[in-house]
Amino acid sequence: MCGIVGYAGSLEAAPVLLKGLEKLEYRGYDSAGIAVIQGDKIDIAKAAGKLQVLKDLTANGEKVPGHVGIGHTRWATHGEPSDVNAHPHLSNSGRFAVVHNGIIENYQQLKEMLQKKGFSFISQTDTEVIAQLVEYFYQGDMLDTMIHLLNVLEGSYSLGVLSADEPERFYAVRKDSPLVVGLGQGENLIASDVPSLLAHTQEVCYLEDREIVIIASDRVRIFDTNGDEKPVRSTHIDWDVSAAEKGGYEHFMFKEIMEQPQSLQKTVSPRLKDGGIVLDDFHITREMLQNTSKIYIVACGSSYHVGVVGKYVLESTTRIPVEVDIASEFRYRQPIIDERTLMIVISQSGETADTIAAMREGKAQGARVLAIVNVLGSTIAREADDVLYTWAGPEIAVATTKAYSTQLVVIDLLALKFAELLGTMPEEELAAYCEALANLPAQVEDVLADKEKIQYWASQLYNKHSIFFIGRNLDYAVAMEGSLKLKEISYIHSEAYAGGELKHGTISLIEQGTLVFTLATYQPLVEKIKSNAEEVRARGAYLVSVAVAGDKQMAAVSDVVFSVPKTLPLLQPSLTVIPLQLFAYYVASQKGCSIDQPKNLAKSVTVE
Ligand code: AGP
Repeated sequence: MCGIVGYAGSLEAAPVLLKGLEKLEYRGYDSAGIAVIQGDKIDIAKAAGKLQVLKDLTANGEKVPGHVGIGHTRWATHGEPSDVNAHPHLSNSGRFAVVHNGIIENYQQLKEMLQKKGFSFISQTDTEVIAQLVEYFYQGDMLDTMIHLLNVLEGSYSLGVLSADEPERFYAVRKDSPLVVGLGQGENLIASDVPSLLAHTQEVCYLEDREIVIIASDRVRIFDTNGDEKPVRSTHIDWDVSAAEKGGYEHFMFKEIMEQPQSLQKTVSPRLKDGGIVLDDFHITREMLQNTSKIYIVACGSSYHVGVVGKYVLESTTRIPVEVDIASEFRYRQPIIDERTLMIVISQSGETADTIAAMREGKAQGARVLAIVNVLGSTIAREADDVLYTWAGPEIAVATTKAYSTQLVVIDLLALKFAELLGTMPEEELAAYCEALANLPAQVEDVLADKEKIQYWASQLYNKHSIFFIGRNLDYAVAMEGSLKLKEISYIHSEAYAGGELKHGTISLIEQGTLVFTLATYQPLVEKIKSNAEEVRARGAYLVSVAVAGDKQMAAVSDVVFSVPKTLPLLQPSLTVIPLQLFAYYVASQKGCSIDQPKNLAKSVTVE
């Protein structure tokens, strides 16, 4: 997805914009550009390729002087990556410049209307239509122009808009695409995400949909689409810019894998009190649960894989039926929802378009929505009835690790809280689970200590063309995540399969040397998965197993064993996943892949 930045202050804007765009590179992009007001005109510099191309073009911004400007990294949706299609886009007169994240769904008819009015277009983008619309509506009042703009645009957008008539300020607005205002001293900014702001301020304002913000160096003003002014809300960000830096690691992904013990500690320990679970911003009561006929868990990608774990865990502790859905499927399958439905939406970014749409569908049909989110103030966090934050800190790498892990333990905490409310778990078992949760960070540390062994086997196995991950019950859910991690950063084809399902077809693909990861940590089914391991081994598979320390049975049937500590059954996925994260990372590293920004991927998919 695209990235937007904007600046008004005493500094030269161009270098600030370029640094802000650096902090958005993790979102994935194929071109970049900036626009700065110089006197009574707008100067633009943009180019296809990585940010370095733009830095070279502008001599790190020195060639584009001025104190008010906007910038953009583009993840192409309409029109191929090119200099012409890169943002910012200028109106025909050159008096207005626009940067945009999102998709304008009615841009074709707007373009035809503007062409009939004599406007010409040079790019294939939907965004250029916005620049011409600003010019078309402008009668001297930019706020009025922005209101007209919002009345005709359909789709998702966060916009930065420059007017050469107003050199001291710029305008911004959002609908369904995130946009955050940085509230500085003698300078104010906008960005698609907080890391771009932290070099200037830790006070931010999360814009609501269809709020128009006017940014000047000494003042920020917010208006609604009636032209009424609204208060500027301020939120303090409690992590600093270093948290969004690599900190000496080669890749953000490895840093975030290694940060998991701390992230788990921050997410779990404030919620364990006196042998019980204390959840903040949570208003679900025993009566509400007793009146709940179904729980839907809805998410995408790795967050969906957490949902698959959640189904097993929640049904085990509450005996309430749980269905897990991929968000993009959920909203189009006429789900059966009513006031007795609880919907749990899981999202690291809180901005995934498919998950937002599914959540809104559920709410519209009467479901109560509980969100598990990592990004403070994100759309999903703001629209849910209850929010449980993962406190993983900023996750920059496209491939999620610490956010996934903290989502797992939040699901565990939620399931234990529900069991506590419903009385469906004996007190001593609940206390045992709380103690085991408190021990998880140290146990994850132990698994990470084994990373060199995993690095060695990755160096031996990175040339495989197809890798299978099999498991049963919770191990099957983790197998899905292990397979996705490998695919998205090493580009090796992989599939996750329920161990008992292989013999119903896929086992025909197993041949001499096929690499099969067997996850055998879910204790109640170790015997069963061991049999599946023997089935594939009998057909020539090369078997790498993940098993609990000391499991001699799996060692006897495996070529390689990655051992993990044992914990209580429902918490085991938090440990089983760690070797798979490391294996994917080391394989991708061995192959020289672009680990933090894999090809074609974005950190948060804010388009359908
Ligand atoms: C996970 O490594 C991927 N980056 C992707 O599957 C991600 O989990 C998915 O896009 C959902 O993102 P969200 O958690 O921000 O909603």
